[in-house]
Amino acid sequence: MSGECARPFLKWAGGKTQLLDKIKSRLPKEINNGRYTTYVEPFVGGGAVFFRLAQTYDFQECYIADINSDLYITYTVVKQNVEELIGKLRIIREEFLNCDIETRRDFYTTVRSEFNRTKNEPDCDRYSEAWTLHASRLIFLNKTCFNGLYRVNLSGGFNVPFGKYKTYPILQEEILRADAEVLQKTEIYQGDFTHIATHIDENTFVYFDPPYRPLNSTSLFTGYAKNGFDDDEQRRLAAFFAECDAKGARCMLSNSDPKNADPKDEFFDELYAGFNIDRVPAKRMINSDSSKRGSINEIIVTNY
Ligand SMILES: C[S@@+](CC[C@H](N)C(=O)[O-])C[C@H]1O[C@@H](n2cnc3c(N)ncnc32)[C@H](O)[C@@H]1O
Repeated sequence: MSGECARPFLKWAGGKTQLLDKIKSRLPKEINNGRYTTYVEPFVGGGAVFFRLAQTYDFQECYIADINSDLYITYTVVKQNVEELIGKLRIIREEFLNCDIETRRDFYTTVRSEFNRTKNEPDCDRYSEAWTLHASRLIFLNKTCFNGLYRVNLSGGFNVPFGKYKTYPILQEEILRADAEVLQKTEIYQGDFTHIATHIDENTFVYFDPPYRPLNSTSLFTGYAKNGFDDDEQRRLAAFFAECDAKGARCMLSNSDPKNADPKDEFFDELYAGFNIDRVPAKRMINSDSSKRGSINEIIVTNY
């Protein structure tokens, strides 16, 4: 047992660390007595909610998924091969810290090119040693890129520039080990949120944290994957939420509140009519300009 609590090993846009207390206070009460044996999170991202809930409550099984294949590979490596991953991160950290300030940027750019070049190699289709290297590169890039963002261009290449910081938390071995422990009872999937449907029944708690609906055209952030998440996707998700509800699962979903930009915007109120919608204050971290990170509402929808 490691001394650290399990928590995200990556910084991820939309990460829910700062909403955790509000999420926890809205969980179904029976979650405390083991009523829900299965935890499902179909948009896991950095996993702030997953890691917290999976180590707090006694779920027998957890299922996490994300459409992002780099995330899938990295979660799988943390689960199956954490010590080898730590070894690779130790090497990459040493090489990086041995560079002087100016050449660190070049080192970063080389790792980024290798990361993008090798992700389409055949070995990347199945678990292999190449996965451990790929996972270590993703973690390295996440800890050294500008603002810790994951963003891809139209051809799927990671394109975030280097970030100049005083320190770089490239290797957080105790967190990785604690995460690996939680992942032992977890199945990891890559793909669309609907693929995880077979694991959802009346004994399941499902937490949905889809990409935010943009508040306005300038706050658009669609860089998690090549194909963004538009209003039709939000509608498809609402239909899936209703399906999970009909199966008897307890469901919670968070999103941005369009009323922040237009108080008359009823998009989610209409999509989730019949469910409970709470509005909670949150700080938006996605804006790289910290002066523009104001407090705005998010919505939390529950079916209980
Ligand atoms: C808001 S983030 C999740 C943040 C996460 N809960 C956290 O705490 O870091 C949304 C995630 O949905 C994923 N995603 C986008 N479209 C998807 C789809 N159709 N099916 C499954 N995952 C998808 C993105 O790759 C991204 O990681």
